[in-house]
Amino acid sequence: MAVRKTDLKWSDVTPKAVFMNRRAVIASGGAALLGLSGGGQRAFAADKLNAAPSRYSTDEKPNTFEEISGYNNFYEFGLDKGDPAKNAHALTTDPWAVQIDGLVDRPGSYDLADILKGQRLEQRIYRHRCVEAWSMVVPWVGFELNALLARVGVQPGARFVAFETLMRPSEMPMQKTSILDWPYREGLRLDEAMHPLAILATGLYDEAMPKQNGAPLRLVVPWKYGFKSIKSIVRITLTADRPQATWNMQAPKEYGFYSNVNPNVDHPRWSQASERRIGGGFFAKRQPTLMFNGYGDEVASLYAGMDLTKEY
Ligand code: MTE
Repeated sequence: MAVRKTDLKWSDVTPKAVFMNRRAVIASGGAALLGLSGGGQRAFAADKLNAAPSRYSTDEKPNTFEEISGYNNFYEFGLDKGDPAKNAHALTTDPWAVQIDGLVDRPGSYDLADILKGQRLEQRIYRHRCVEAWSMVVPWVGFELNALLARVGVQPGARFVAFETLMRPSEMPMQKTSILDWPYREGLRLDEAMHPLAILATGLYDEAMPKQNGAPLRLVVPWKYGFKSIKSIVRITLTADRPQATWNMQAPKEYGFYSNVNPNVDHPRWSQASERRIGGGFFAKRQPTLMFNGYGDEVASLYAGMDLTKEY
């Protein structure tokens, strides 16, 4: 796909009201913008956000920061759950640009700091369910993906959104191997991407996103298995055709394109009916997995009429 570059700045495509409102909030001391440039992009500190956690938040107890940032899947940095925390410090996350292209009105390479200036960050405490049958509760800080898509103008022919992770083998050592077809890629149907539950996250608790969790910008789609939530995003492309997704390409019988959390459809090699909550201790009981990870009231209508045993 041809990539057109523009010189547009984020402020050029951000409605002025949003901008001014943001600045007013900052000026009033209601939220502190913690050094957007320099030593790495910082999220707004969650405890300094004006609003309580959004209405989409679960009231379950969040996992600790140490649990969330110490037990990760980020294959670019290794296969063991502890590898990302050990190795991801090598990743340079500032400066960071995101290429937004394909079927959009204002394609371009946008500086992340500019993208963030136009967005209303909030805390979303979400259940996070990995396809490997473990789960956590994570207080993400981020903004709705639909807000970013609105800024760049989605063209009528767009039906899907494709995402790509950074490709930088010098800092992501596993990219020198062929364990996956790099860069890591994911995709959503446009209506899934527009759903208010789908966010781009820049932090967790009151910290900037730890590198092992996908700094400086990662997707979070809480009704889908964790592998849809692609980390360290550098490209977002609006497409007419269904995009490639890394695990779906790697093992299509095991990982479908949709990957909605579904206790009734087992992985061919293990059950998806229950999950182990990280941090619960060795003797903690497994808990039943909920359809759409418990977000069915919000998202089930997106899949009306589909056979979810086939479109898994
Ligand atoms: N994104 C990239 N680029 N590379 C990965 O290996 N792993 C996925 C997803 N995003 C992965 C990725 C998987 S399998 C899961 S479960 C979640 O990230 C884990 O997110 P967490 O480490 O923040 O819990």
